Amino acid sequence: MRTQVGIVGAGPAGLLLSHLLHLAGIDSVVVEVRSRADIEATIRAGVLEQGTVDLLSEIGVGERMKREGFLHHGIELRFAGRRHRIDLSALTGGKAIMVYAQHEVLKDLIQARLDTGGQIVFEAEGVSVYDLTSDVPTIRYRKDGEVVELHCDFIAGCDGSQGVCRPSIPPRLLNVYERHYPFGWFGILAAAPPSTEELIYNLHERGFALVSTRSRQIQRLYFQCDPKEDIADWPDARIWHELRTRLATPEGDWKLIEGPITQKGVIGMRSMVVEPMRHGRLFLAGDAAHIVPPTGAKGLNLAVSDVRVLADALSAFYRTKDEALLDGYSATCLRRIWKAQRFSWWMTSMLHRFPGSDAFQMRVQLAEFDYVTGSRAASTALAENYVGLPLAA
Ligand code: DHB
Repeated sequence: MRTQVGIVGAGPAGLLLSHLLHLAGIDSVVVEVRSRADIEATIRAGVLEQGTVDLLSEIGVGERMKREGFLHHGIELRFAGRRHRIDLSALTGGKAIMVYAQHEVLKDLIQARLDTGGQIVFEAEGVSVYDLTSDVPTIRYRKDGEVVELHCDFIAGCDGSQGVCRPSIPPRLLNVYERHYPFGWFGILAAAPPSTEELIYNLHERGFALVSTRSRQIQRLYFQCDPKEDIADWPDARIWHELRTRLATPEGDWKLIEGPITQKGVIGMRSMVVEPMRHGRLFLAGDAAHIVPPTGAKGLNLAVSDVRVLADALSAFYRTKDEALLDGYSATCLRRIWKAQRFSWWMTSMLHRFPGSDAFQMRVQLAEFDYVTGSRAASTALAENYVGLPLAA
């Protein structure tokens, strides 16, 4: 089999790239190890930056998002019970974020690809990539017992942090920058109405908590936990008690609305970047090249900005045979990636309790809150990063 761009992975990066290439008249095949049902049911984050919302709308994949998603113009920061609203829109010239779950974005992208004749091979087995530095890099996999060789002009490695693409690059050619955090997030879905119209990022002596939403009936909440926490130790009543304790505030008559918990899971937290994001004719995008801790919800949005740059570079190549944008792909993406890494690391540090950190550290974190909420310059810095920096920033 032959295609112009072989894409490994049907996550946000792979599917969006495939659709952007289609709109530019470039052929692609997406090869994915998981099933469509599995992809469409996996619970991930749910905050889309303004630029992500604009892009999905522009390419005709934003209709359901606009109908069912929630446009938020601000967030609440809550530190030791003190509440402060960051007015994202006022501070960024009208930008906002959309709360719309990642797996809903994936459903929309899969539908868009299938509606326009796109090829997605689900449940491919034994996927491997080779001849990466030749003119015909190849993806090999098994489907229904048959071995398929997909010969490509280019391969996009969009197969996440556990995928096969990054490990196919000789390790001596990659620099890996990594940081592990000594905590995780305990995430739940609860069948309850929203407790808040905007997201609450909360710091308490017992640790971080986040109140987010999915719909008028389903809420998404997280709290900082041990990375090895066993969900069996957390019956519903204990979870609600922990969340109530951390979110308690004497300001206003705010109350956490509880309900049956329908899903529980622990999310690890780390930062990782590989440089460069290219080897021969293999280009890494999204989680295959970088991981951010979830605070600030940059993961999906970074995948989107990577593939925007890659789609433009590939289009330029097919139009003019000019490789300059492909040659610049890694450096262009990394500038934005490192800014998102900085922001995610900063939000994480400001909002979490580190094991062994003392009362001095907590005072510094409270001072940071005072500064971020009291200074227009500092609030603006948070807001412009939160809604998303421009593509070429
Ligand atoms: C959500 C996840 C995040 O990491 C975040 O910063 C905000 C919201 C969410 O899943 O809703």
